Amino acid sequence: MNERIFSVAIDGPAGAGKSTVAKGVAKRLGIVYVDTGAMYRAIGLKTVRLGIPSDDAEKVGAILPDTEVTLGFIDGVQHVFLDGEDVSGLIRTQEVSNAASKVSAIPEVRFKMVELQQKLAENTSLTMDGRDICQYVLPNAEYKFFVTASPDARTSRRYKELSEKGTLGGMTFNELLVEMNERDKRDSGRDCMPLKKAPDAILIDTTYMNIEESIDAVMRYIGG
Ligand code: DC
Repeated sequence: MNERIFSVAIDGPAGAGKSTVAKGVAKRLGIVYVDTGAMYRAIGLKTVRLGIPSDDAEKVGAILPDTEVTLGFIDGVQHVFLDGEDVSGLIRTQEVSNAASKVSAIPEVRFKMVELQQKLAENTSLTMDGRDICQYVLPNAEYKFFVTASPDARTSRRYKELSEKGTLGGMTFNELLVEMNERDKRDSGRDCMPLKKAPDAILIDTTYMNIEESIDAVMRYIGG
């Protein structure tokens, strides 16, 4: 007998803790975690490397046919490959965050990524996080969540994460706050598949929750 295949879709703004929650939920359920932001980051990285303005739809569109983004799982951990190169370690800088946000507003980029994401979910139970998962990528997902937190809490978390990774690049807390606000505005203001809470997604505000409490909050709805 086939095991039941199901999806947990998680959307939310930058730094809300959604990837930590999605990863933790996947671990507890013994299913795969897919970070869709990494795919947009890989394309953002390519534009940075080529010196192409990340918001130039024509120029970005022109490199798309020769751009391959794939995901692989090594010991259960997602790796993202750009034209065959494992770029997982190179996509977490602020420069690439901003480039990813810009390329992700371009419809051709989104259509290509969404198709790949939908294929991944066809045969595997997974948690998938991003901005448009509940409404566009997996509209029939069994479980849908919108994970958010206050702008201050989100910036503090991202500040800590970047400091620990050594990729803060001398940015102050306030500069990061401004950049994150700009990114959220762009991600939710774009025409194509913007960041928006789906009407049927459960809102989880992690402002005053630690990681375990945030995972518990989601698990309460899934059971198990
Ligand atoms: O989740 P993240 O911060 O790694 O995502 C980087 C950027 O990619 C984000 O600013 C918006 C974009 N993105 C998107 O548009 N749709 C997704 N499903 C995931 C990310």
